[in-house]
Amino acid sequence: MTAAQPMTIERFIIEQEQRHPDATGALSQILYDLAFAGKIIAREVRKAGLVDILGGTGSVNVQGELVQKLDEYANTTIFKAMDHTGRLCIMGSEEVADPIEIPERYPTGPYVLLFDPLDGSSNIDYNVSIGTIFSIHRKISPGPRGDITDILQTGNLQVAAGYILYGSSTMMVYSTGNGVHGFTLDPSIGEFLLSHPNIHMPEASRYYSVNESYYTRWTPAIRKLVDHLKGTYGKPSAARSARYIGSLVADFHRNLIGGGIFLYPADVREPGKPKAKLRLLYEAAPLAFLAEAAGGRAIDGERRILDVVPTQLHQRTALFVGNCDDVALVERFIAAER
Ligand code: AHG
Ligand code: MN
Ligand code: MN
Repeated sequence: MTAAQPMTIERFIIEQEQRHPDATGALSQILYDLAFAGKIIAREVRKAGLVDILGGTGSVNVQGELVQKLDEYANTTIFKAMDHTGRLCIMGSEEVADPIEIPERYPTGPYVLLFDPLDGSSNIDYNVSIGTIFSIHRKISPGPRGDITDILQTGNLQVAAGYILYGSSTMMVYSTGNGVHGFTLDPSIGEFLLSHPNIHMPEASRYYSVNESYYTRWTPAIRKLVDHLKGTYGKPSAARSARYIGSLVADFHRNLIGGGIFLYPADVREPGKPKAKLRLLYEAAPLAFLAEAAGGRAIDGERRILDVVPTQLHQRTALFVGNCDDVALVERFIAAER
């Protein structure tokens, strides 16, 4: 009797690469290196509470947010997994103010990596799902070591994007534009195994996810939209179920699999100065890339997220991401107010 051969992430990545005869293997190796870093971070996350890894480091990052010990651990783990491989020319991280150069002693390569080492860090201390988000571009600068032009590329130029979710199980979900595929870490063998091939966002929308405590910060259009999603404006039958974890990556993952919309609208309390929270390059753009590859959409309220031309590494954006009908609904409510 022969046992069914599980599809490891390594084998899957190799098989995908073989469809592109001109591929050098560098992108495949970056994905595999990220899976490796994800396993190390998962191991540390799983020990949280037992070892001294919970809580803050005492420092504040470039975003003005308290840096958690696990944020720093995840950031260093990814950097160290990627810095010496000769596959990247530059990196950018939520936790580091400036672009991260490849150390002089190591070779550089043809790709750019942007990442949010740990997304949802306000949830770390409470044993709630968190994740790592990544975005990969091709190097476009002429010099050997990469520069800010490599970092500031529009989302539609991404060659791959994905996340590693440290939830009730650890999952890696990624796309190179050819479908969205999910792998679950089997802790008994330490391998990510293909568990969710060709993820497609369900047509039917079950959930809406938004931090509703910010209701008074939104435009009237967004308030009406959320009222509609709750069933208190328009047809009560339009009501969805509310789910909000407060870790973008986990909220996105649930809606990707279960169907729904995630909203993080801008704060418009100060006239003429809308403020957004989520970061374009390593939060919104990679998830927009995945959403589109899974048959959904992502906008900032006016534009497709993947068309936004970035001007800063830590640029923020409003985000509405979910299945096509829901994103069209957002557009209708916003247009009605113009
Ligand atoms: P990070 O932990 O990487 O700084 O990101 C936090 C983000 C995101 O994960 C989540 O969707 C959002 O913050 C939650 O914000 P609110 O607490 O304002 O709802
Ligand atoms: Mn984040
Ligand atoms: Mn983070």
